[in-house]
Formats: sequence, structure tokens, C-alpha cells
Amino acid sequence: MNSLNLRAATWRRTLAATAVLVAMAAAPGLAKKAPPAPAGPDYPAVLNAAQAKFKDLQEGKNADYIPALAKVDPNIYGIALVTVDGKVFTTGDITSEVSIQSISKVFTMARVVEDQGADAIENNMGVDATGQVFNSIVAVEQYKGAEMNPMVNPGAITATSMVSGASRDEIWNKIIGTYSDFAGRALSVNQEVFKSEAETNQRNQAISMLMYAYGHIKDNPLQACDVYTEQCAVSVNAKDLAEMAATLANGGTNPVTGKTCMSATNVPRVLAVMATAGLYDDSGKWLYHTGLPAKSGVGGGILAVAPGKFGVAVISPPLDAAGNSVKAQKTIAEISNALGANPYAPKPAMVATAAAGKKEKKK
Ligand code: DON
Repeated sequence: MNSLNLRAATWRRTLAATAVLVAMAAAPGLAKKAPPAPAGPDYPAVLNAAQAKFKDLQEGKNADYIPALAKVDPNIYGIALVTVDGKVFTTGDITSEVSIQSISKVFTMARVVEDQGADAIENNMGVDATGQVFNSIVAVEQYKGAEMNPMVNPGAITATSMVSGASRDEIWNKIIGTYSDFAGRALSVNQEVFKSEAETNQRNQAISMLMYAYGHIKDNPLQACDVYTEQCAVSVNAKDLAEMAATLANGGTNPVTGKTCMSATNVPRVLAVMATAGLYDDSGKWLYHTGLPAKSGVGGGILAVAPGKFGVAVISPPLDAAGNSVKAQKTIAEISNALGANPYAPKPAMVATAAAGKKEKKK
């Protein structure tokens, strides 16, 4: 082939290649497809698997020191997960409700931190784990009502006393309004539970008086105890609790309603106290297995927060000796571990790099 023919052949090949490229651009079906976006977690499958695994578990016993709680159906078992982009997944008894009990402490703390700043909590009852049961009087006596936190009864009743208002009604409306914003619907009180606990809460009244005696509650300690008792009787289902948790996971804005419930800068303070004291004297054990800030209530609910990812909650009334729902602990641990939600766990890429490094060393 002479040089003229060679140039002509090269030119023809270039033209043909250009024609193919133009055709591919015009007909995207012919172009190389972009790789599919990685699929997100299969939340329904994870929730259903956890439910199947624990539904027949019969350990634990309903709380009975509040008589109305002993009468709640121990077989209630509801599971919900709400992602930070507002997707809701549920399984099990999703219409059944339990009283929120100590889980309320998280959201009263949030209200006080929002209104008075995070220092107000730290400077009053403190933010340290007590290592004692949730209604310990020894813990109050040890440091005259300081060096504890808003998740145990003395600190929680004190936090309730810090919610400002010209009347009991005004205080109550602030509290129930806050809880409702976090849950994304108007919550209400289970009057039977409220009455039952109000008739039997002498120990909490004593704790309130002690916190008043030590100067942590400034005024009206018995009203603080009464409002606290009412907040514990707020009725919730698993989805309410998961949405409350998801709001914390989403930096204080409810991902379903879009309502800002607290400022993002205050959220880590609340999560820190949940991490150290949310499951009382078993908080260390819980964190060891899940890495997630969580909060339990003697009504049988537990919620947990995977920051930046999701909130998850389970209701199941039978409790262990520390006052935490047996099934809720196991179910949430199973779900969060299946979803790789432990913030302390290394990312898979880090594990692979570490393994490669080990092999390299062995050579
Ligand atoms: O004050 C009490 O004893 C109850 N209203 C709440 C206790 C509670 O939920 C402890 N949580 N596990």
C-alpha cells in the first residue's frame, strides 16, 4: 500500500470510529451503562429476621412496682426503624402502645438544654454515670445530689423542675409539645398509668425532697415529681420511639416531618448521657455490644440512635433485673449489628487494609 492509500485507510478508520461514538451518544442504550448505585440496606429483611429470631423468647417480667404496668400484655412486641432520610420501616405489633417511662428523660433533658444551654445540666445534677439503680438514694447522698445525670430519677426529676413556666399547665404543655415534635404526632397520657404511679411514687417524692434539700430543685419539689410522673405515662408505639430516635440521629430535625426539635450542636450532649447512663447500671454492657446511645423505660420500650443513619426502637414489656426490656435489647443489638451501625467498629476497608498489612509483615 503506497503512502497515499495508507493515509486514506487511516482516515476511513477515524471516520468510522467517530461515527460509532456519535451514534452511541445519540442512542444512550448503546453507550456503556454507568454501574448501578450500590443498593442500600434491606431494612425490612433485617427487621423481619430479628423479629423471627426473638419472637418466642420468654425471659424477663413486667415491671410491677407501678401496679398498672403489671397488667400490660407481656406479648406486645413492636419494632420500628426510621432513617435520617425519613423512611419508616416497621414490623410486629405496631399499633400497640406502652408508657414511655424513663425514655421521656431524654427529651426533657433536650428541652432544658435547648432553653438553658448544656452547661445548666452539667452544673446542676451533672453528667456522670452513677453505677447505681435508676432510683438510688445512695447516689443522691454520695455527692449531695451532684455527680449524677438526667437519666436517673434524681437527675430526671431535677431536669423536669428546670422546665420553666408560669403554671403547671404551661410547664406540661412545653414538655408534651417537645415529645410530640420529636415523635411527629400529638402524643397523650395514659391516665391509668399516671394515676397508678402517682399513688405509689413515694420513693420519687422522697428523692425530689432530697434534691430540693441539697439545692438542685429550686422550688416546688412535689410538683416537679408530679409532672415527672405524668411525663413517664405518655403513651407511645414503637414507631413513635423510632421517630424520636431518628430525630436525634438526624441532628435534631425530625426526618419525617422536617420540624427542627433541637439545635444540632446540642444533640451530642444528649447522646453522650444516653451512652453512659441510658441503660443504667447495664449501660457499659450495652455500649460494649452495640456502640449506640440508647434509652430504656420500665414500660418495655428501648430506643437507640445510630447518628447520621437511623433511629430504632422496640417495645416489649418483660424486663431484666436492671429494668431494661429483654427482647428490646436483643432485637436492637441484632438489628444494629446487622446494619453495621456501631460507630466504633472499623469500616470494612480498614479491616481489609489491616489484614493486608498483617500478611505483608509475615512474608
Ligand atoms: O420513676 C420511675 O420509677 C418510672 N416512672 C420510670 C423508671 C424507668 O423507666 C426506669 N427505666 N428503665
